[in-house]
Amino acid sequence: MEDPWHRAKEALGRWAAQQIQDVRILGIGSGSTVSAFIQALARYRQEVPMPLTITAASHASEEQARQLGLDVVPLESLEHVDLAVDGADAVDAHGALIKGGGAALVRERLVIAAARHTMILVDSSKVMNAFKRVRLPIAIIPFGWRQTLSRLNGLGVGTASLRRKGEGPVVTDDGLYIADLAIGNIAVPDMLHHELKRIDGVVDTGLFLDYPTAIWVSDGLTVWRHNE
Ligand code: 5RP
Repeated sequence: MEDPWHRAKEALGRWAAQQIQDVRILGIGSGSTVSAFIQALARYRQEVPMPLTITAASHASEEQARQLGLDVVPLESLEHVDLAVDGADAVDAHGALIKGGGAALVRERLVIAAARHTMILVDSSKVMNAFKRVRLPIAIIPFGWRQTLSRLNGLGVGTASLRRKGEGPVVTDDGLYIADLAIGNIAVPDMLHHELKRIDGVVDTGLFLDYPTAIWVSDGLTVWRHNE
């Protein structure tokens, strides 16, 4: 089935590709919005050649960028990243993000943490006042995953389930599993993030809160800034 938001993702991808003229080292996240951005970037670079080194937060993004002729290196080979471009699953009024719908949250955080600036691209369906009735992805260690799920459920904030694909669990590029925590209301995202990180077996959560981030939104017709 066609993604009803693909026009917005393409608009964001095209728009973002034109914003990076002065960027030399670019971090890219993952997902369909980032994929539209990579496509647009490769096309734009044919028109306006520029020296650009890319580091990618997932094997899929890395593969796509390489196939389109972009120069991709591992994050650890770089001193810094000028700009990270990524998507998100939800954005609240304060600019907090939920990420991890594509299971790449651990690497996405590391790319964003290494970047001087971050540009987040979301279609307008993902913008909400506060995080209500959301699924929060949590990266967990495979060993003892059942017990980690019980601990997550024991917190009493929502219902955790193991993300599956076909017969087996979804496995991230780092060999982790993903637990999705269905939550009615995230009252204080920062508190929840730290509470979850303290649970044995949890590696990271999809709550991205304190990065210098410009969030850009599109409905397919125009692109606008969500936060200042
Ligand atoms: C992957 C992510 C993605 O950025 C997020 O899931 C958005 O994906 P899409 O652009 O396909 O809607 O966090 O871990």
